[in-house]
Amino acid sequence: MFLTTAIDYANAKPHLGHAYEKVLTDTLARFARRTGQEVRFLSGLDEHGQKVQQSAGKAGKSPQEFVDGISVLFASLWKLLRVQPDDFLRTTQARHKKLVGEVLEKLHRQGDIVKGTFKGFYSVRAEQFLTEKERQPDGSWPEIYGEVVELTEENYFFKLSKYQDWLRELIQKQPSLIFPEFRAKELLGALEKPLPDLCISRPKARLAWGIPLPFDENQVTYVWFDALLNYVTGAGSGEGKLTDWEPAVHVIGKDILVPAHGVYWPCMLKALSLPMFAKLLVHGFWTRKSEKLSKSTGNVVDPGELAAKYGADAFRYYVLREMALGHDADFDEESLAARRKGELAHELGNLLQRTGSMIGRYRDGKIPAVAKPDPISEGFRDTVLHALRKWDELMKGYQIHLALGELWKAVQAANQLIEARAPWKLAKDANKAGELDATLADAAAALELVLLEVACVIPQTAEAGLTQLGYPGRPGPRQKSWPDWPTEQAGRALGTITPLFPLLDEEKAARG
Ligand code: ME8
Ligand code: MG
Repeated sequence: MFLTTAIDYANAKPHLGHAYEKVLTDTLARFARRTGQEVRFLSGLDEHGQKVQQSAGKAGKSPQEFVDGISVLFASLWKLLRVQPDDFLRTTQARHKKLVGEVLEKLHRQGDIVKGTFKGFYSVRAEQFLTEKERQPDGSWPEIYGEVVELTEENYFFKLSKYQDWLRELIQKQPSLIFPEFRAKELLGALEKPLPDLCISRPKARLAWGIPLPFDENQVTYVWFDALLNYVTGAGSGEGKLTDWEPAVHVIGKDILVPAHGVYWPCMLKALSLPMFAKLLVHGFWTRKSEKLSKSTGNVVDPGELAAKYGADAFRYYVLREMALGHDADFDEESLAARRKGELAHELGNLLQRTGSMIGRYRDGKIPAVAKPDPISEGFRDTVLHALRKWDELMKGYQIHLALGELWKAVQAANQLIEARAPWKLAKDANKAGELDATLADAAAALELVLLEVACVIPQTAEAGLTQLGYPGRPGPRQKSWPDWPTEQAGRALGTITPLFPLLDEEKAARG
């Protein structure tokens, strides 16, 4: 499986949307590995273009110095959040520039890229072309653009129109190329009107920060031709070979489906005679207080600060539990704190804490053996295994938020088992030793099963929890017989039991 993220614009520090997408893709990669798939996980940064050139200018740096600085911010956030791609591509790397040059050359030679005139409204102050989107209802242009003139310039165009009918038919025949499917309908809607050819270059005089066209030294590639090809550069060996391309699962946000990934990208693959991608997984947008996240209004969320305060795993859990993949969600710090305190600390953390300490107290710190499960035990095991099967099914259907809900049913059942069987009472009666063994062993087994699965969402916590349970080694791919009740636990010594989600400073203060 070749799994990619969008490459983020390197013109500012990472925001919540960036962090969500990378955590999501990292989780999908870990889950796929758990189910036995081989995965290549690619992420990276989009470092060319007008915005970067402008931001660098404002910061008084060269564009390269500027993106080098930004790339450190992204890399350290991914490290903090345990987002672990196999390859991290920056579009300013030599391997990518070489590949883009080769592709442009090939498409130019075969007549898919041609010279033409570009006509549009140009803001002298902002040094950019404006689109109808920027125009105000009364037909004028916003103040910030200053003087706006109509301008024509010679540019190169990719013959998109040639592929329109082919593309429409492809999406009609295979709507499952796009998840969720309602996004395929949106794309088909956009394909009803004739597609204009795509302008792929800019004169160097206006935009210096880009990859030069091999057949015209006065022009550089512009935005999407550069950015989308990162997926080919980073495929397989990661050495920028066209022959290394393999159909990818592309994780992207809804704003870059139409036209970039839904129109340009399949047409580019077709023109290059490369196989189609495997899927576009299109996620929704985070808002805050139901409004757009925007620096200009101060409505921003810093993922690094949240991870530092609540822990990387609490952040990962929150974003994946809160957002239904494909739909929008509203960020709320109180809800993050509540999920950490409730589902993570109280439900999952406490289960390990009480199971571990009772095994310590009553069974010398070793997980007891169970000769034959009694009916309560059997019922409990069925509940847990059922929840695991649902989890698996929902994860494979990209319903991560619901999948986590299923997994937590197993956690809740284990807590209820302990409440119902009350090991502290069983321990007082020598005749109940077998029941006590079963209760403790069943809770420990359920925990092991849950932690092995939830490791894709909360990797550090899962590893810590498994170590406390005395689990040998690190979580790997499932056994063929999964989900199977663990039988190798009996006699295993637990590690030191410590809270998985300790109280936050402010929670301690509130307790007095
Ligand atoms: O679009 N909520 O870069 P980008 C969720 N360089 N996701 C969000 C979001 C939000 N509020 N805001 C942005 C680019 N995203 C191009 C991509 S790919 C060949 C080139 C998502 O930094 C957005 O949808 O603007 C995209 O998937 C990713 O963050 C990078 O956005
Ligand atoms: Mg964007």
